[in-house]
Amino acid sequence: MVGDRFFRHIYSACWDPEVRLQEMDRDGVDLQIISATPVLFAYERPLEHALDCAQLLNDAALELCSRGKGRLKSFCQVPLQDVDAACEELSRSMQAGHLGVQIGNHVGSKNLDDAGIVTFLQHCADEGAAVLVHPWEMFGLERMPKYMMPWTVGMPAETQLSVVALILSGAFDRLPDTLRICFAHGGGSFAFLLGRLENAWHHHPVARGDCQHPPSHYLKRFSTDSAVFDQRTLQFLVGTMGADQVMLGSDYPFPLGEERVGSLIRQSNLPQHTKAKLLSGNAARFLALEGQSQEAAERMSGVGIAPRSEPRQLTYSSYLKVPELLELQQPQSSPPHHDELLFILVHQTYELWFKELLHDLDAVVANLQRAGAAPQTHDEVYEAARLLRRCTEITRVLVEQFTILETMLPTHFLAFRGLLEPASGFQSEQFREIEFLCGLKDEKMLRYHKPTPEAYASLKRRLEEPSLRDVFFGALQAMGKLPPAREGESEGERFAARARAVHSLYKAERDHRDWIDVCERLTEFDELVVSWRLRHIQLVERIIGIRMGTGGSAGSSYLKLTLDKKFFPELWEARTLLTE
Ligand code: HEM
Repeated sequence: MVGDRFFRHIYSACWDPEVRLQEMDRDGVDLQIISATPVLFAYERPLEHALDCAQLLNDAALELCSRGKGRLKSFCQVPLQDVDAACEELSRSMQAGHLGVQIGNHVGSKNLDDAGIVTFLQHCADEGAAVLVHPWEMFGLERMPKYMMPWTVGMPAETQLSVVALILSGAFDRLPDTLRICFAHGGGSFAFLLGRLENAWHHHPVARGDCQHPPSHYLKRFSTDSAVFDQRTLQFLVGTMGADQVMLGSDYPFPLGEERVGSLIRQSNLPQHTKAKLLSGNAARFLALEGQSQEAAERMSGVGIAPRSEPRQLTYSSYLKVPELLELQQPQSSPPHHDELLFILVHQTYELWFKELLHDLDAVVANLQRAGAAPQTHDEVYEAARLLRRCTEITRVLVEQFTILETMLPTHFLAFRGLLEPASGFQSEQFREIEFLCGLKDEKMLRYHKPTPEAYASLKRRLEEPSLRDVFFGALQAMGKLPPAREGESEGERFAARARAVHSLYKAERDHRDWIDVCERLTEFDELVVSWRLRHIQLVERIIGIRMGTGGSAGSSYLKLTLDKKFFPELWEARTLLTE
């Protein structure tokens, strides 16, 4: 009851540590921070009442924790309407064993940027007390009499207001960065509206307040909990705040709390090491538990905390950047559709192999350039053939890989396809780079890369640089196998001369085994790329039939037109000449 008014039903988890511990075991929670609820802050009461209330509750919390088998810790509360008394009660509580303090997000009309409250926060930093800001006494209650709106609408706005007040007032510029402060309920509406705040800061001098930097600069200065109850929101929150700034918050054991504490994070698609941070690592840092005993660290290890002996030597993961790699799969569907992970991973795998192909093809070009500059030597030609063999083996794998994606039912793909528009394979920069590098240059394709200026610039560069095809024939020219281009020679005549040059190599097989090897590898590569195109078309038809592509093309009928494309058409023409 609040006065004689019913407030909410509670049950024995609120006062019986045994019940709490059982429920923690059920949910896989090792350590819990308890605090009194914000309705008990008493900030509006005379100081002596509020102080009485704080001391009573703070001592009771410690007594409850003493029966918690080391798995319950507490945050105190303070009479924040009086800064001196608040600082004094904080110091007393910290000495008695609290890990921090829970404060309301305002005291009457004073927001967190009030000079007295900022002084209190400074004192928290000095005392090493973690601060949890919880919204309370919501504004606009007269307009929110129904539907629990004060909780669902008022609280998020209140919290956003306090974060914004702290940032814009310049309080974070004055407070030391040792202050550990966290805002409840995912920071309310703050993260979602950060863009709006940032925009106002940049464009309206009055919106700037007194802070030295744009609002996003201060994201590392505070944390939020994870109590947002939606996978997409959690992803967004972690994306905005950073994986180090969000920690498990439960609202346990109240009606709006998470039914199985931690399930939102555990069931999310976040990478394992990010989950470990959210479930424990970030809280351990926030609560300054990291430096504590091995026993405490081990207790937390159940939810992912490792003892703090930072491995500095190179490990498998640190060398291969495994954690970073595993963080790169971010589904658009919410809750994530089971097959979207496969869809992302297969594409990412292709892109990784495209990277290796470009790396090797660039080296082939360099070797053939050197071979052209010194036609007597053979080493570079052998090296080019060796690297081309790698390119063909990679491409063989790339042709095969489509079958994995074909285990995805068309209906499963359609369940999230709509979320991918207007992204399209047309925008695979590396695929187009491979085409341009090999000699298949089509300036029109640059238009798909307008949204990404870096991709546009590197493709433009590839368009202007000599291609593998140019360099190959440049070397044959240096060897005297291909006459220099004649004044006014047409494209068709030049093509025929190049085909004849290749023809002459095959005719003198014993003298040009190294070059013939290069020709065979280039031909095989060409062949395999066509196989890739064909398998891709089959996949497309299997998954979306003859529907249009997300990139706006006619889909499979467009892709079929690409089947005739060849990187090295003269090598194929030479075969016709050989049979004549
Ligand atoms: C569900 C699976 C897939 C579907 C339905 C699909 C569909 C399409 C369609 C319709 C196009 C034509 C462009 C457009 O209008 O968007 C296209 C192009 C393309 N796709 Fe896919 N695709 C799939 C998987 C893949 C995979 C796994 C890759 C691997 C990298 C890939 C790479 C490409 C590339 C590079 C292009 C441009 C081809 C060119 O311009 O010649 N696609 N895709």
